[in-house]
Amino acid sequence: MALQLNINWPEFLQTYWQKKPVILKNAFPNFVDPITPDELAGLAMEPEVDSRLVSQVDGKWQASHGPFTQFDDLGETGWSILCQAVNHWHMPSAELVRPFRVLPEWRLDDLMISYSVPGGGVGPHIDNYDVFIIQGMGRRRWRVGDALPMRQFCPHPALLHVDPFEPIIDEEMAPGDILYIPPGFPHDGYTFEDTLNYSVGFRGPNGRDFLSGFADYALENDLGGVHYADPDLTVREHAGRVEGFELDRAREMMIDMLRQPEDFKQWFGRFVSTPRHELDVAPAEPPYAPEEVLDALTGGETLVRLSGLRVLNVDGSFFINGEAYRPADAAAADVLSRYTEVTHDMLGDALHNPAFIAELAGLINQGYWYFDE
Ligand code: SIN
Ligand code: CO
Repeated sequence: MALQLNINWPEFLQTYWQKKPVILKNAFPNFVDPITPDELAGLAMEPEVDSRLVSQVDGKWQASHGPFTQFDDLGETGWSILCQAVNHWHMPSAELVRPFRVLPEWRLDDLMISYSVPGGGVGPHIDNYDVFIIQGMGRRRWRVGDALPMRQFCPHPALLHVDPFEPIIDEEMAPGDILYIPPGFPHDGYTFEDTLNYSVGFRGPNGRDFLSGFADYALENDLGGVHYADPDLTVREHAGRVEGFELDRAREMMIDMLRQPEDFKQWFGRFVSTPRHELDVAPAEPPYAPEEVLDALTGGETLVRLSGLRVLNVDGSFFINGEAYRPADAAAADVLSRYTEVTHDMLGDALHNPAFIAELAGLINQGYWYFDE
């Protein structure tokens, strides 16, 4: 049964999204943890999974990155294990992200899961992304302060904390409650119990990310080969001065590159369809022949997208996992970008297009989609 998430999205977006934090009580009614602390600890031992262990003993913070080989000497208090992008590796947990598909996929970062014992937590900090923190097992007291300028410091080289803050939210969350926090609001979770928290994070790249991403694209595609030119040059009294109009001309050259709509779209599509965390890609073994793909769909099988794979329709151009995808059937490609599970009837006329079926077989064989048994 699909997981029920009770959020009035239009109201939430208008009042809270990127504006102010809020606790959404019982947003997941009858919440059942999709993962156990042991399973999470197991993931933190996998080299592909980005994991951390954060601990605090008598106010002294420690942090280390996985993969971990054992968790034997941890004791019963003062530590947390955190795993990033669990939605890429653990399918029952990935279900938690699904109800958030009312928000654009390109803004989604990942599902981070933390397991904390009494006194555990990562300490007071600020994030640069929007996060929906779902309370799972246990109760945890969450405090959130206002987005005011604050001093940040490193109590350990791998941790960035903020000074103590005055809370605008101070509440104990119960399983199924969600705390939404926009970027910039300091927060801290404290627990007296063993607790699981699920953070569905949305990240907006900053201007620096965009600019360096575009620069990489320009280099790879030999854009911007035109050199600065000044056929109108005149004799200078002061050879050491760069004039304002020269500065403007250089800036215009750069802006012109960004102004090319097709280049901009091709770059943006690749950029935002590149996942920030490793995917669990397993090529189909043995590979499918196109007829087998058609047979499976006709026989009622569901085609499931690899969890975390980004399939985007950027203003009519398609991108999969950081690469341009020029589909044989645009309507079917739109269906692939819109839904994470696809059945026969959704693909329409494309099923009669051998070029599309061959292309689909290629995507399945790459491990990007698979048939649900
Ligand atoms: C946690 O789950 O302990 C930390 C989540 C966060 O503060 O973003
Ligand atoms: Co945080």
